Amino acid sequence: SLASHIGDYQFDNLLLNAAGVRCSTTDELNKTLDSMAGGCVTKSATPEERAGNESPRMKALPLGSINSMGLPNHGIDYYLKFAEENQGKNGKQVILSIAGLSIDQNIEMLKKVQDSSFSGLTELNLSCPNVKGKSQVGYDFDAVRDVLTSTFKFFKKPLGLKLPPYFDFNQFNGIAEVLNDFPITYINVINSIGNGLVVDPETESVVIKPKGGFGGLGGDYVKPTALANVRALRQRLNPEISIIGTGGIKSGMDVFEHVLCGANLVQIGTAFGYEGTPIFERISKELKEIMDKKGYKTLDDFRGKLKTI
Ligand code: DHB
Repeated sequence: SLASHIGDYQFDNLLLNAAGVRCSTTDELNKTLDSMAGGCVTKSATPEERAGNESPRMKALPLGSINSMGLPNHGIDYYLKFAEENQGKNGKQVILSIAGLSIDQNIEMLKKVQDSSFSGLTELNLSCPNVKGKSQVGYDFDAVRDVLTSTFKFFKKPLGLKLPPYFDFNQFNGIAEVLNDFPITYINVINSIGNGLVVDPETESVVIKPKGGFGGLGGDYVKPTALANVRALRQRLNPEISIIGTGGIKSGMDVFEHVLCGANLVQIGTAFGYEGTPIFERISKELKEIMDKKGYKTLDDFRGKLKTI
């Protein structure tokens, strides 16, 4: 079985899309809910609709992707309506992602969610790297504490956090210390590795237009960083906080590795962008074959059991 859960929320399959990829329209979201995925995540919403950055703003590469989308989305009302209407469709969860450009915008959207009929998981994205002039909240631990303090004064529904990748043990310790002070349902690590730069030596040029070519990296480039964040945070967070592992997943073996590091669910971004919804069936089959070979019947049989030498 590939079943798992986050808090009280059951998922028949641990695989989901990652926020941002093929999840901007109700058509895309319904395709994922109708696939073998265990649920879907909506494109991170802002209070109003946004067009996002100039194109080209995403480039597929042999080892992954670089993007600087700039939060193109249809606005919170669009995604909240979809979430209210479709949570539970095919027995699956809709995770509602929100990414305000300020604390006030996040509070404004969370109040709408609190006052709505939506009873699923909300994912507060503190790690968008692509909006010009806005730094990633997840790297400012005092700002993370402030937004969570304001949020939990009124927000009584289950909350997850999408976090940026951390690279130093001081960062792992610092963010865990903040998060452990709040009733967070889950964290999701990692968002893209922000502000990488891909160079095309043929044209002697950058490959995406916004921000002079700087953008968030996904795919093979980021898997070891993602595994490190899942593992390091699993070792530091209260056991009540679940972990969604995101980063570099394109095969059943990649999922196996994320679960060994402690992931309860996983999300697929870059590779889902390339392959579309058939990827959920392919990876499910690959993971089941690995588990069969190893004699594992459930994800609990190996979750978090990574060995050290
Ligand atoms: C975008 C990218 C992100 O990594 C994110 O978390 C939110 C938005 C974007 O550029 O649209």
